[in-house]
Amino acid sequence: MANFRRFRPDDLNKLSKCNLDPFTETYELGFYLQYYAKWPSLFQVAEDQHGNIIGYIMGKLESSPEIYQFSEHYLPWHAHITAVTVAPEARRLGIGKLLTEQLEVAADANDAWFVDLFVRVSNHKAITFYKNMGYSVFRVVKDYYGEHSTDPTLSSEDAYDMRKPMKRDAKRQHVRDDGEKHEVDPSDVW
Ligand SMILES: CC(C)(COP(=O)(O)OP(=O)(O)OC[C@H]1O[C@@H](n2cnc3c(N)ncnc32)[C@H](O)[C@@H]1OP(=O)(O)O)[C@@H](O)C(=O)NCCC(=O)NCCS
Repeated sequence: MANFRRFRPDDLNKLSKCNLDPFTETYELGFYLQYYAKWPSLFQVAEDQHGNIIGYIMGKLESSPEIYQFSEHYLPWHAHITAVTVAPEARRLGIGKLLTEQLEVAADANDAWFVDLFVRVSNHKAITFYKNMGYSVFRVVKDYYGEHSTDPTLSSEDAYDMRKPMKRDAKRQHVRDDGEKHEVDPSDVW
């Protein structure tokens, strides 16, 4: 049985059950605190009965800088999932889905057009997870990751930029059916 609540700074030394996973990035401590300070409703944790953090989601709200407003790559106001992870022993219990749904509620409450995220193209489990939650590929960012997660002979890996429209995008203007065909460079992502 998991308890869901907002992240608190004293959770920072309890993330290792989740962060030892190879598909979960570990950031500088200040990075987590910046999300906590700016977007507390988009930073949620799941804890077990012993107080261990067994899952969390960390997100932000943003649009592209105004300087890019006429670019085809301009991103309107949206929520972004920076990290979502569940400890291996707590997977397939619906925790990741509940965390993501909580972030989507916050995205709607903030009038976001969509929720987006980047995922390694080799992270098939996460891609299935997102697709089953209504996310689809919007574009492929070539060589987005500086190293490959599963093949050390490759120096980089592409990312899928996946999206799910929120209530504001009732006409689905900001999603694509053929996103796998839209390749962009990392320099087009801001
Ligand atoms: C992706 C991740 C967050 C999913 O968390 P989770 O709590 O296990 O997922 P849920 O139990 O909520 O799964 C919801 C649905 O997603 C799909 N799904 C989840 N994990 C899956 C898997 N390993 N294989 C296939 N489908 C999967 C299923 O449809 C599942 O529903 P079901 O169990 O009723 O069939 C988790 O596997 C994880 O932490 N992975 C490592 C970190 C990571 O890759 N994060 C994403 C980086 S972008």
